[in-house]
Amino acid sequence: MITIVEVGLRDGLQNEDQILDTAIKREILDRLIRSGIRHMEVTSFVHPRWIPQLADAEQLAGDLPFHSAVTYRALVPNRKGLERALQSSVDEFAIFMSASETHNFKNINKSITETYPVLQEVVEEAIKHGKKVRGYVSTVFGCPYEGEVAISQVAKVCERLFQMGVYEVSLGDTIGVATPIQVKEVLKKLFTQFPAGSLAGHFHDTHGTGLANAYTALESGLTTLDTSFGGLGGCPYAPGAAGNLATEDLVYLLHGMGIETGIDLELLCETSAWVEQKLGKQLPSKVLKSIIGK
Ligand code: HMG
Ligand code: MG
Repeated sequence: MITIVEVGLRDGLQNEDQILDTAIKREILDRLIRSGIRHMEVTSFVHPRWIPQLADAEQLAGDLPFHSAVTYRALVPNRKGLERALQSSVDEFAIFMSASETHNFKNINKSITETYPVLQEVVEEAIKHGKKVRGYVSTVFGCPYEGEVAISQVAKVCERLFQMGVYEVSLGDTIGVATPIQVKEVLKKLFTQFPAGSLAGHFHDTHGTGLANAYTALESGLTTLDTSFGGLGGCPYAPGAAGNLATEDLVYLLHGMGIETGIDLELLCETSAWVEQKLGKQLPSKVLKSIIGK
C-alpha cells in the first residue's frame, strides 16, 4: 500500500505569484477529495508576511468538510502557529526545518540549534491536544546555499525530530537536485537508524528526476510519497526550487505497475486543468498534458 500525501494546496500555492481566493482553494480541495485524494496538506500557519499566498489559513482550515477517510494537514512553525492551528479543523500538523544551516535560517529565521526547542514545544503541545505530528527535513539531498549536505547531518536532524515525538519524517529534496543512486544511498544509510515505514519522500522535480527518484525510493522500501497536483510547488526561500513531483505522474506510474491508489486520474487531471485556468498558466505534469490534450 502506497500513501500519497497531496501537498499542492500548501507547497504548490505557496510558490505562486498569484494569490488564489479562499473560495477557489476550497473548490480545489473538494475536487481533490472527489478524485480520491485522502491525505492532503491544506495550508500553513506560518507568518502571513513570509507566505502571503497562505494568509487565509484560518478561513480555509477553519471549517473543513468532514470526510471520515480524509486527513487534513497543515504546517506549523512555532507556538504562535500552533495556537492558530489548534483553532482550525486540521487533523494533523507538520513541523519543518532544514538539514543545512543557511536554508534553515533563510526559511524560518533561526539557527538549527535555536529551532529544536521551538519545535519541541509545538510537538509536545500538539500531542497533548491529541494531534499527530509529522516532521519535514529540507535540503536532504542538497542546499541552494551550501551545496552538498552530509547524510550524518540529515540523520542527526531526523533523530532529534523523532525524539520530539513526530510519527514520520518526510525527506525533502527541496531544490530537486537528487538523482536515483543518491536516493538509494541516503535511504540505505537512514534505514540503518530508522524504519522505512517512518520515513517519506518529498521530491521536487526541478531537473526532471522526481519520478525516477520516487521510483527508486519505493524500490528501496519507502511507502509514503508527497506529490502535488499538476506538479505545482516550490519553496520561496530556496532559490531555484521548482514544482513537486506531480501527483498525476506518480499515479500513472503506480497504476501502470499494478499498484492501486484509489485516485481517479481523469478527475485529478480535470482539477489540475481547472487550476491552470485560474492561474492562467500551464502546469508541468506530463500526464496532465497527455490526458487533457487528448
Ligand atoms: P520571525 O519573524 O522570526 O518570528 O518568523 P518571531 O517569533 O520573531 O515573531 C515576530 C512576529 O511574528 C511576532 O509578532 C509574532 O507574533 C509573529 P509581533 O509581536 O511582532 O506583532 N509570528 C506569527 N504570526 C503568525 N503566525 C505565526 C507567527 N510566528 C510569529 N506562525 C517564522 C519566524 C517561522 C514565523 C517565519 O520565518 C515564517 O513564517 N517562516 C515560514 C516560511 C515558510 O513557510 N516556508 C515554506 C514552507 S517550508 C517548505 O516549503 C519545505 C517543505 O516543502 C519540504 C521541502 O520541500 O524541503 C516543507
Ligand atoms: Mg517542498
